[in-house]
Amino acid sequence: MLSTEEQSRLLQVAQTVAQRAYAPYSNFRVGAAVLTQQGNIFAGCNVENASYGLTICAERAAIFSAIAQEGGDHMRIQAIAVVNEQNLPCSPCGACRQVIFEFGSTAIVLFPSQNGLKVISVAELLPEGFRF
Ligand code: THU
Repeated sequence: MLSTEEQSRLLQVAQTVAQRAYAPYSNFRVGAAVLTQQGNIFAGCNVENASYGLTICAERAAIFSAIAQEGGDHMRIQAIAVVNEQNLPCSPCGACRQVIFEFGSTAIVLFPSQNGLKVISVAELLPEGFRF
């Protein structure tokens, strides 16, 4: 379970880091904040490139930062919040869902939807996620 305080903190961190995004092509600035099982919070923003396909989403940037700190064999995602500067509906893309699933098959995902803030498990967002 995610407490109301944890939820607000994650959304606040994600909102702050969204302002640091590098998004000159889409002008869509996204921020993500990961809460790990260890209780740490890591932030990430989208970083675009003139070669568009090289763009990295905020979610993966935050997850990779968490791994760099806690280690890929240990880091587990408890929750991840995604926001954007315009507060438009923005659910994690398919690639990010799979990466979230890899590091937290029971992770809670928060994002702005058509009906306001959505709080949902990654298993609901990505049924039958790939495992190897
Ligand atoms: N983007 C994210 O960072 N996360 C999402 O969940 C959706 C899309 C970024 C990628 C690109 O830089 C911009 O938003 C527009 O697609």
